[in-house]
Amino acid sequence: MSNQPHGGSLVNRELSEQEKAEALSKAESLKAIHANPWVVSDIELIGIGGFSPLTGFMGQADYEGVINNNHLADGTVWTVPITLSVTEDEAEQYKIGEEIALKGEDGIIYGTIKLEEKYTYDQKLEAQNVYGTTEEAHPGVKKLYERGDVYLGGPITLLNRPDHGVFNEFYMDPNQTRQMFADLGWKTIVGFQTRNPVHRAHEYIQKCALEAVDGLLLNPLVGETKSDDIPADIRMESYQAILKHYYPAERTRLAIYPAAMRYAGPKESVLHAIVRKNFGCTHFIVGRDHAGVGDYYGTYEAQEFISQFEEELGIQVFKFEHAFYCTECGNMGTAKTCPHGKEHHVHLSGTKVREKLRNGERPPKEFSRPEVADILIKGMQQN
Ligand code: ADX
Repeated sequence: MSNQPHGGSLVNRELSEQEKAEALSKAESLKAIHANPWVVSDIELIGIGGFSPLTGFMGQADYEGVINNNHLADGTVWTVPITLSVTEDEAEQYKIGEEIALKGEDGIIYGTIKLEEKYTYDQKLEAQNVYGTTEEAHPGVKKLYERGDVYLGGPITLLNRPDHGVFNEFYMDPNQTRQMFADLGWKTIVGFQTRNPVHRAHEYIQKCALEAVDGLLLNPLVGETKSDDIPADIRMESYQAILKHYYPAERTRLAIYPAAMRYAGPKESVLHAIVRKNFGCTHFIVGRDHAGVGDYYGTYEAQEFISQFEEELGIQVFKFEHAFYCTECGNMGTAKTCPHGKEHHVHLSGTKVREKLRNGERPPKEFSRPEVADILIKGMQQN
């Protein structure tokens, strides 16, 4: 049986087909807020219940509760603000109580918001409290500083789910993943977040977890990422290859997580766990420097942070130490299981790996499966 949704019930902000057609034609005549791809992904995740119990973009009480105290106003644990920003000039055009269309860059109206609140916020404070830094060099902070100065809060309605193109066959909403787990007879399911190809270390920790549960949901993030991360289409191809060659088909499923990457490390690890809980997972993996970037977070800071909320989160967190291949052991391990020194451990930096791939060279098979390396090489050379 799947896990309970966060907050108790799965949010659904969609309408019946007939209501939707009416709402869409009405939305054409509403004022429209420009929704960038990040905002569109938030609308989708709220609408399908991935962000349960959120029913819309956060109002001030929830926002302040989250950034100052890691909880929504009603006491539910939540660590990353989900907000809609506009400029002060734009904000002046909207009246409380008004319904406003949320229009993507492609002209599609993805939803509407019923405006309940407008409030200003302190970008530096949000940066410090959510990302742990006010430096613009941090990709999440950079995005934050590009936002308008006013947040709009209120419930949304999802009118059009985004088209995920080549990923559509791997798209599932939380109701569908829950149904799938039931059909498969999985009672315990571990969710795995990733924004990288699955290398041997990822494979190792997933399989360690899989020894203890019924199934693995490989749930790569395919929304906005920073430009030097490997693009999602190449990664998706690599996931299919590794699953085909090295994973038991009846105990693994691949589904996309259509969110933007915040790089908020510890705080984002909690968001990632909540979403996977909403998708029905009972377990979630947090390894080394989860959702980290550069040197902004300590290697195990996310694990320490998420530990304090484990009970109220209601999803069991599998924490793994830094994993590597040890040439003396002749297998994968961590400091918990391998007695040998660092000189025996195969370690490659992300930069080194990318350099090799760009040169058409496979990283050692102890680091990356050849089937994965070949797809990455092809992908890097095309881009
Ligand atoms: S993340 O930004 O999505 O966290 P990544 O795709 O690299 O980045 O990581 C996915 C998960 O695997 C995270 O939980 C991360 O902590 C974990 N992880 C990545 N590399 C290792 C490693 N070498 N050892 C242990 N855990 C790892």
